[in-house]
Amino acid sequence: MFTVITLSYLLNVHAQVHMPRLVRNDNYFQLLVDDQPYLIFGGELGNSSASSDEYMRPIWPKLKAMNLNTVIAPVYWELIEPAEGKFDFSLLDSLGKNARLNKMKLVLLWFGSWKNSMSCYAPGWVKTNTKRFPRSVDKNGVKQEIITPFNKNNLGADKSAFVKLMQHIKETDNKQNTVIMIQVENEIGMLPSARSYDEDANKAFEQPVPEKLINYLENHKANLADEVKSLWGKNGYKTSGNWEDVFGKSLSTDEIFMAWHYARYANEIAAAGKAIYNLPMYVNAALNHPGWKPGIYPSGGPIPHLIDIWKAGAPDIDLLAPDIYFPDFQHWADQYDRHDLHDQDAANPLFIPEIRFEKGDDAKAFFAFGNYNCLSFSPFSIESTDHPETEAIGKAYTILRQISNLITTYQPKGNVAGFLVSKDSSTRIDTMGNYRLTVKHDYTLGWSPGAGNSSWPLSGCVVIEVSPDEFYVAGTGVVITFQSITPGKRASFFRIDEGKFENQKWISGRRMNGDQDHQGRHVRIPVDQFGIQRVKLYQY
Ligand code: DGJ
Repeated sequence: MFTVITLSYLLNVHAQVHMPRLVRNDNYFQLLVDDQPYLIFGGELGNSSASSDEYMRPIWPKLKAMNLNTVIAPVYWELIEPAEGKFDFSLLDSLGKNARLNKMKLVLLWFGSWKNSMSCYAPGWVKTNTKRFPRSVDKNGVKQEIITPFNKNNLGADKSAFVKLMQHIKETDNKQNTVIMIQVENEIGMLPSARSYDEDANKAFEQPVPEKLINYLENHKANLADEVKSLWGKNGYKTSGNWEDVFGKSLSTDEIFMAWHYARYANEIAAAGKAIYNLPMYVNAALNHPGWKPGIYPSGGPIPHLIDIWKAGAPDIDLLAPDIYFPDFQHWADQYDRHDLHDQDAANPLFIPEIRFEKGDDAKAFFAFGNYNCLSFSPFSIESTDHPETEAIGKAYTILRQISNLITTYQPKGNVAGFLVSKDSSTRIDTMGNYRLTVKHDYTLGWSPGAGNSSWPLSGCVVIEVSPDEFYVAGTGVVITFQSITPGKRASFFRIDEGKFENQKWISGRRMNGDQDHQGRHVRIPVDQFGIQRVKLYQY
């Protein structure tokens, strides 16, 4: 009897767990997995790795050694539907099984119509039938290896494969929630012209700009990206006419036109998939190379100046995500963190599905989760390391996983900050509660080993204020001082403890006094060390 009751109780509890979803409360986004806020400490696999079960075998221990909680992995149209209407999900099933064995979640990338602009993952039966599945055409009339978004057959074929995929995930995973999100297509964008000149595209270009887009532009005029607003404004904010009537004749107009049609295509796929199994879905962007023109960089993807066009055209896509391969992390991240826009349709949380796997990712991860409403951080080709156990990103994830719950609890209250410091920008100042924090790079301490080095590693940390005089500091390579914001008062440390969280319970380790806090002057986590310190202050 006891067993029966326990089992039915467990089943009930299980039944109450909802599927993964994205929620927005008080202008703050959360990804809920098994009903708990979830931050993705991830890694994206190299493109071909997940196409072979055998190739993946030695990769799983590497992913585990780097402490990932989520693997971002492709599902290939050509492999799941090698012949029209005949599906094979064996690779996906194995990916799911291994993810569960390793206690990881999956974000699946739908390599469907487009992968980095191209249609290389369309099955052979699509690629070879260009009459039924027409291609985009550049401005010189040359057909491209890019199926056109203006054709219903292309959309229909992609959509029915995607629907099958979502059906399969629903049937096999709806109790376990291994798959938590879906990326629709990969780095969409037209090359080598700013727009396609295929027959259907040319017809669409002469059509009136859809009312849906005009309404969005009118309703969001105040917050539109400068490029779109000024293009539209220069032309007198027209509310009717074809694309060139409304936006003028330019490459930028061609780009907006493509963005709209790509967004509609991706939206239709996402909506059809969600109707089967309503997982959160996003589209990723190949960022526009500064100084290049659309068509030289992939034109029409969800890049910063086109976010509004995508938001208008793809309301079923939950978020737009940057793949960050350029320097100046903050510049790009700033443009995708639109969580505080009061405007529901235009808001967006930062979600990084790909970032170049390189030195400094550890510091950027601390900064990203502390400074932004960031839901995912994920270096690309994560399995390419030969030394997973010593990778800095793995060490950062070990720390971030311990404080994930603190971040998602205190960030909505405004009590979390993130800092990124480098040789060129070695000091950051911010006020948290009753204190002004000065965060410096560890090498600003003259006696720090490495202070004289010509290059300094990036350093970063998250600071969480849990009560008026109490903070957790987590990160690497930083020195932090606290000042009272009350005139005439001084701040000092009551205690600083190093420690860790186990099952969300704080366990203190060393008392960090003497040389470790410079006799009560600062909190320090040296370069190459990763840690959490609990800091209690007082004022006098
Ligand atoms: C970005 C793409 O989304 C990935 O699939 C991969 O091609 C990387 N670029 C390579 O740097």
